[in-house]
Amino acid sequence: MAAFDCLITGVSGFVGSHLAELLLDRKYSIAGTFLVEKSLENLSGIADRLEFFQVDLRLKESVKKVIWAAQPKWIFHLAAFSSVGFSFKRPEETLVNNFVSTLNLLEAVREMSVPPKVLLVSSSDIFGQVNKKWLPLKGTEPWAPRSPYAASKGAADLIGQAYFHSFKIPVYHALAFNHTGPRQGPGFAVPDFASQISQIEAGAAKPVLSVGNLKARRDFSDVRDVVRGYELVLKKGKPGEIYTFCSGKDVTIERVLKMLLRLSKVKIKVKSDPARQRPSEIPVLRGDFSKARRELGWKPAIKLEKTLSDTLDYWRGRNHTNEVAV
Ligand code: GDD
Repeated sequence: MAAFDCLITGVSGFVGSHLAELLLDRKYSIAGTFLVEKSLENLSGIADRLEFFQVDLRLKESVKKVIWAAQPKWIFHLAAFSSVGFSFKRPEETLVNNFVSTLNLLEAVREMSVPPKVLLVSSSDIFGQVNKKWLPLKGTEPWAPRSPYAASKGAADLIGQAYFHSFKIPVYHALAFNHTGPRQGPGFAVPDFASQISQIEAGAAKPVLSVGNLKARRDFSDVRDVVRGYELVLKKGKPGEIYTFCSGKDVTIERVLKMLLRLSKVKIKVKSDPARQRPSEIPVLRGDFSKARRELGWKPAIKLEKTLSDTLDYWRGRNHTNEVAV
């Protein structure tokens, strides 16, 4: 098989599908891995321009076969179990998926005579409850993971660092703060709220929106800005370094909810749902993207208002009989 410019693991996922669109626009040849057939819906419109591998990245030999077949120059490792909330309910699945898939990928890459560049994506969730004087976070502050998801991302980061230093694999690190937009699935605040609003608007649910903790503050970016950053890391960044992608501002989840409710066509009541509360909560996360701006020329371009409005429109366009917000 021909060598591809890029391999995206989790190409049919929320972030993977946006990255595939960007890279196709920029004329890269792309292969991608996916796990479940249904997720390919996210790629409607571009699927015929991609090469697909259906693979469970937890299986070492299968991962090796894909890497050998695709012979990519760059790998964007996006396949991950990425909902913090779900990770409290399914810790083992989160840990195994996020760590073992990364290890298998790095092992496969290690066997290549010219190893491709590998982008690993970590999360601001690894910092846990941060000391306020460290804000905004540059990405180099000490970690204090509170969720199984954060632990899994930290572990994947560490194995990436080990392979970079010991086996000279060109591993690059992107550190993402909250990013949202069309195609993000349930299990995250914005799609959880937007999907409920769209169901209510369609008359498919009572006008009551269930929410969890609204007091937390998060730094939101648009996924379409963030994937621009991922390409720049492999194009212009340095291996072994961390590049942080965020907006530099934090907002309460309550404010995000209010912005979405303002876009709603109907009047909706808000109800606190204990099932949406987490065993532990990070009060505030805010990042500093000055390194990405300085070294990569990256800065966010899309305003939160547009991200939320596009996300709500995405949910309005879905078939409500099949979508259940969790
Ligand atoms: N999911 C969800 N659903 N969260 C809710 C809800 C709800 O109905 N109501 C309130 N929240 C609160 C959560 O308790 C949390 O404080 C905040 O909204 C944001 O939750 P998420 O959108 O699930 O994101 P996250 O901050 O836990 O994690 C996200 O950001 C990380 C980077 O910091 C995810 O996108 C991760 O994958 C990402 O790595």
